[in-house]
Amino acid sequence: MTSMNIEQPTPNNQLPRRLKTERDPETKPGTQGREAVALITGGTRGIGFGIARALAAEGYRLAVCGVRDEQAAAPSLADLRADGTDVLYCRCDIGKRDDRVAMLDRIRSHYGRLDILVNNAGVAPKERRDLLDATEESFEWVLKTNLQGPYFLTQAVARWMIEQADAIAGFSGMIINVSSISATVVSPNRGEYCVSKAGVSMATQLWAVRLAEFGIPVYEVRPGVTATDMTSGVKEKYDKLIADGLIPQRRWGDPADTGNVVAALARGNFPYSTGQVIMVDGGLTIPRL
Ligand SMILES: NC(=O)c1ccc[n+]([C@@H]2O[C@H](COP(=O)([O-])OP(=O)(O)OC[C@H]3O[C@@H](n4cnc5c(N)ncnc54)[C@H](OP(=O)(O)O)[C@@H]3O)[C@@H](O)[C@H]2O)c1
Repeated sequence: MTSMNIEQPTPNNQLPRRLKTERDPETKPGTQGREAVALITGGTRGIGFGIARALAAEGYRLAVCGVRDEQAAAPSLADLRADGTDVLYCRCDIGKRDDRVAMLDRIRSHYGRLDILVNNAGVAPKERRDLLDATEESFEWVLKTNLQGPYFLTQAVARWMIEQADAIAGFSGMIINVSSISATVVSPNRGEYCVSKAGVSMATQLWAVRLAEFGIPVYEVRPGVTATDMTSGVKEKYDKLIADGLIPQRRWGDPADTGNVVAALARGNFPYSTGQVIMVDGGLTIPRL
């Protein structure tokens, strides 16, 4: 294949800011206007930050979490608050039950409600190792962070959303899981990551079925190769692969690409599509000859 120019993504802090939109709070699920609250795990960096910006632009009040202390996340928080969005930061290791409980307690006392959960936080193995050499320690850490934590955060949030449906007029919850093309694309040098994302995909379907009777849709958003800190160490490798045609759309994914998809879901325009996967991969996973 021939080489061609790769469009470089815009750094996160220069993403175009979209105008807030007014919505009819009565008509669509997930669109309760300025009262509504979205929790984005890992919302101060990378794809999560792209999602947080997109939901802020939709008028959501935000809760975001991460493992860094609040000071380290301050520039992102200032960006999100720049046009008046209420943003609560919670330091929370998603893999730890007590942290998850404390985070939901804080959101409950700060906002009193939670309308959308976006399970975005995730980790790649600290070291890429062939399947034949990979360690159980890495497997446990990646699975705890990428699958077990979000799975049980979903359980806790789902129970709260079911309560809220009775208590708040017009309330309708929504859960969005950020998986990866690694849910189906094999990388033998980071098997634990692939297994975790395949698990997120099944978890999405499980929760979609379980929560359908409560009117809570659950979606999976599946990004491809996206320019963030997670992929900075393999930038040159993917620059070359993209130039050689790995991705039909011939550019890196941008966090805003995923953010825009999440915002579209949050508007409530996909009410009869629970459990479905929305690809954000520039066509990478289209089978080709
Ligand atoms: N980049 C890609 O090419 C790509 C492709 C497909 C899917 N994804 C998925 O997209 C999601 C975001 O990835 P990214 O590329 O934006 O990664 P990133 O730039 O490394 O950011 C990861 C975010 O997750 C947070 N996080 C990590 N471990 C956590 C934990 N134990 N508890 C709470 N928060 C935690 C981090 O918090 P701190 O900021 O506090 O460190 C950070 O905000 C991940 O689930 C990833 O698997 C990424």
